[in-house]
Amino acid sequence: MQMAKTALILGGNRGLGLEFARQYAADGFDVIATSRRPAEAAELRRLGVQIEALDTSTASSIEALSKKLAGESIDVLICNAGVYGPRNDQLTDMHSEDFDLVMRTNVLGPLRLTLAFADNVAKARGVMAFLSSRMGSIGTMSSSSGIAYRASKAALNAVVKAASLELGKRGVRVVSLHPGWVRTDMGGPSATLTPTESVAGMRHVIDNASDLHGGFYDNTGASIPW
Ligand SMILES: NC(=O)c1ccc[n+]([C@@H]2O[C@H](COP(=O)([O-])OP(=O)(O)OC[C@H]3O[C@@H](n4cnc5c(N)ncnc54)[C@H](OP(=O)(O)O)[C@@H]3O)[C@@H](O)[C@H]2O)c1
Repeated sequence: MQMAKTALILGGNRGLGLEFARQYAADGFDVIATSRRPAEAAELRRLGVQIEALDTSTASSIEALSKKLAGESIDVLICNAGVYGPRNDQLTDMHSEDFDLVMRTNVLGPLRLTLAFADNVAKARGVMAFLSSRMGSIGTMSSSSGIAYRASKAALNAVVKAASLELGKRGVRVVSLHPGWVRTDMGGPSATLTPTESVAGMRHVIDNASDLHGGFYDNTGASIPW
């Protein structure tokens, strides 16, 4: 009998992360999904997936989960947790704490998570997918809104590219993803896509990661300039 594949969803209690957990579980994967507050993760509990505690902005929390999962083979790692931060329309100063939170969550967290789970994903010769955003694309930028978020996702893309160069040598495929504009707490009610549509598209991209390694793609598989 073939062993089920394992998907680790980092930031899986709502929005796109929850939808990834739902779709991978429905597809027969063993799903490990994280939440900052596992006791409140009712939707994940309903799915019957393994729930683990993780705050991606805290080194000790990442280390604790890494130790707990040591030796496990992970076929798909979804680095999803992210925050938007200050919603400015144009360039504007902001509190250092607000800026730091965005950078720590969207950039430093994913860097640490890459290192923490590299062995697990290498063991499966699996895929690491990072939830970036088109707003981090310098090549297509046409607005200065949400500058902390834009800067963080551009920096995340540099982390992803660097990870692809290192981990590619160990058989790990690494991609940066833009989910589209999606109706979640972050995307808001006017967004054009449902989480179901967005995640189905991104999972298709992830399935083709061996051809897409080291690149930045939207939910339809179209390449986005860095
Ligand atoms: N929705 C869109 O249109 C859109 C577009 C482009 C890119 N994205 C990206 O897609 C990803 C998911 O977005 P979403 O729309 O699903 O956002 P969301 O609805 O705001 O959900 C964000 C998720 O990240 C988790 N999270 C935030 N900070 C965390 C931390 N320090 N530690 C652990 N978990 C943390 C949240 O957990 P809590 O419940 O504990 O806060 C929640 O599960 C993000 O990286 C976002 O930047 C979204």
